Amino acid sequence: MAPTLDLDFVRAQFPAFSVEGLGRQGFFDNAGGSYMCAPVMERLDRFFRERKVQPYGPYEASRLGGEEMDEARHRLAAMMGVDTDEVSFGPSTTQNTYVLAQAFRQSMKPGDAIIVTNQDHEANSGPWRRLADAGFEVREWQIDPETGHLDPAKLDALLDDKVRLVCFPHCSNVVGEVNDVAAIVAKVHDAGAVACVDGVSYAPHGLPDVDRLGADIYLFSAYKTYGPHQGVMVIRRALAERLPNQAHFFNGDVLYKKFTPAGPDHAQVAACAGMADYIDLLHARHFGTETDPRIRATRVHDLMRAQEISLLQPLLDYLKSKNSVRLIGPSKAEGRAPTVAITADRPGADLAEALAPHEINAGGGDFYAVRPLKALGVGDEGVLRLSFVHYTSKGDIDRLIRALDHVL
Ligand SMILES: Cc1ncc(COP(=O)(O)O)c(C=O)c1O
Repeated sequence: MAPTLDLDFVRAQFPAFSVEGLGRQGFFDNAGGSYMCAPVMERLDRFFRERKVQPYGPYEASRLGGEEMDEARHRLAAMMGVDTDEVSFGPSTTQNTYVLAQAFRQSMKPGDAIIVTNQDHEANSGPWRRLADAGFEVREWQIDPETGHLDPAKLDALLDDKVRLVCFPHCSNVVGEVNDVAAIVAKVHDAGAVACVDGVSYAPHGLPDVDRLGADIYLFSAYKTYGPHQGVMVIRRALAERLPNQAHFFNGDVLYKKFTPAGPDHAQVAACAGMADYIDLLHARHFGTETDPRIRATRVHDLMRAQEISLLQPLLDYLKSKNSVRLIGPSKAEGRAPTVAITADRPGADLAEALAPHEINAGGGDFYAVRPLKALGVGDEGVLRLSFVHYTSKGDIDRLIRALDHVL
């Protein structure tokens, strides 16, 4: 039988839960940025104290710094089922897509087309849409205006032999529905195009097996995934080799440098290995020993998802029972992330403010999902977004529901 998550163990890995005041508050703004786990903090601290020098040099502090940066790429890559040099780090996902869009701009030919969605956060939308300025055709794969669902059948009508690239989210940061990435990527590949998947809203709920998903580009943000403020980018070799270099001319042969024009943030890249430490800690606690990192990551992914799903369904049921509330996205927990956007009688930001005295920390607004919210008919009032992850407790959810009873 699959183990259940040891929540005391999990919460002990997050120093925020031990902070006076903060530790007892219900944290429901995780889709904005998660708490950071202790292994990441420890690595950051050690880097700044002991290794804060130019890395990859011949002396020990420098060598250790460089080794730890390589370790981060190596261990996360192994967990995602990709090669070490297919993983690179940039300042944020938004900056990573910006750079990638320049590479596509240079490599596409007149008459080429790309497909974007109106379900994406602007990071995986705007930079690609700007390719229209260079004369490329931009087609929009549109969500259902009621449910926010992105129907793969509608993609078929947009795909033809002009399409070079399809950009879509693993999971939208306001709709919450988990898209069937593997099935969508298969369609994209059949049409001879490549797929760029924004995994920012998915990765915090379990590191994905990117090889199994089949995406050519997979992006996520470490600061929402228990890590430091970095964007993590997987670019599969076949694509990375054929796209033009965006870095210094002499770095173009090294795949993990090719799409990061600036020098990396050494300490934060090194600290990303702490995300792998955390996954391994959870694995050891719940499953014991396993030598294959990909299997360890998959088990921990499933463990996190099971915990989240069991807490999410009661919240969705509660919100569905309220006539004054519009729940955005699916009402079944299995197919969605615990990122729950609602509208009610007041602007989302006001609802969030009203929750704060109840020690429920959440956010309101558009969350840079301006296009999806517009398509869903949500105006400037925005949404209240209640987002949680595996470290959230049943007590937190109960408290949230009690607070919502006062506020809604
Ligand atoms: C789904 C999604 N994609 C992309 C981004 C942008 O990530 P970053 O802040 O790393 O640029 C966000 C940030 O909120 C997001 O929620």
